[in-house]
Amino acid sequence: MIHKCLFPAAGYGTRFLPATKAMPKEMLPVLTKPLIQYGVEEAVDAGCEIMAVVTGRGKRAITDHFDISYELEHQIKGTSKEGLLAEIRGLIEKCTFTYTRQNEMKGLGDAIYKGKALVGDTEPFAVILADDLCVNAGGDGILKQMAQLYRKYKCCIVAAMEVPHEEVHKYGVIEGKEIEEGVYMVSNMVEKPDNDKAPSNLAVIGRYILTPDIFEVIRNTKPGKNGELQITDALKTQAEQGMVLAYKFKGRRFDCGSVEGFVEATNYFYDQMKKGESEPVSEKKKKK
Ligand code: UTP
Repeated sequence: MIHKCLFPAAGYGTRFLPATKAMPKEMLPVLTKPLIQYGVEEAVDAGCEIMAVVTGRGKRAITDHFDISYELEHQIKGTSKEGLLAEIRGLIEKCTFTYTRQNEMKGLGDAIYKGKALVGDTEPFAVILADDLCVNAGGDGILKQMAQLYRKYKCCIVAAMEVPHEEVHKYGVIEGKEIEEGVYMVSNMVEKPDNDKAPSNLAVIGRYILTPDIFEVIRNTKPGKNGELQITDALKTQAEQGMVLAYKFKGRRFDCGSVEGFVEATNYFYDQMKKGESEPVSEKKKKK
């Protein structure tokens, strides 16, 4: 039902300078895979086959990553290293990648609006912020869980998680009523509220399913916090007009836009890899 996934990736990633001076934040690797590849894998798992990337200046490495590298592939053909490219090769074959640029960093709402040219305005679409790396070991991916919920409610859905009260100022925060376990009907949303003014501690993270009418709402939304066009403000209007749900997802999210979250993700994936290596072969076969 959700075929297209938008990746706003035009941010400067200043928290990772100087690493992000000439390299996009989305290409920072957790072990051997860049952040954006984890995002694309999650989107494919949820049923998407069109990946629409909103990039900016200095982001060409993303385009190159999702393309065939003939020289490199020729060089390692027939060697033990060939397998290392199998996963990305599979993704390139399964998906179509489209790109546009956000010429000025005017906020996430603006970046999503730029994506209209890629995802069109007739179908619902997913949004993944690749710097939020999400996992749900052994279960459905976060976007897949949301796509399943979309089938039932057919409205905008944001992924949410409880955060400590002293951290709410870093997030878009929702106010809402629980209508089924872990699903909230949103009545209000605030971008980066002061800790003592937040309506709850349910914070929105970088996974959304949006209905195409959001574009018109964004077009009529004024710049908000930090002078940026905030998707939170557009969704607040949407919540007042219709239905926006917040979904408390099953799984774990790493804030790879921060150094601390990035290190946590790296440690997590390293432990998983080591566990996988030490598992008896019979167990690995069962999982396949
Ligand atoms: P962030 O504010 O976390 O990303 O935006 P940033 O600006 O790149 O990071 P810092 O704070 O300077 O380190 C969240 C997501 O929204 C995208 C970013 O690329 C990131 O994935 N974004 C944000 C845009 O694409 N365009 C914008 O104008 C703003």
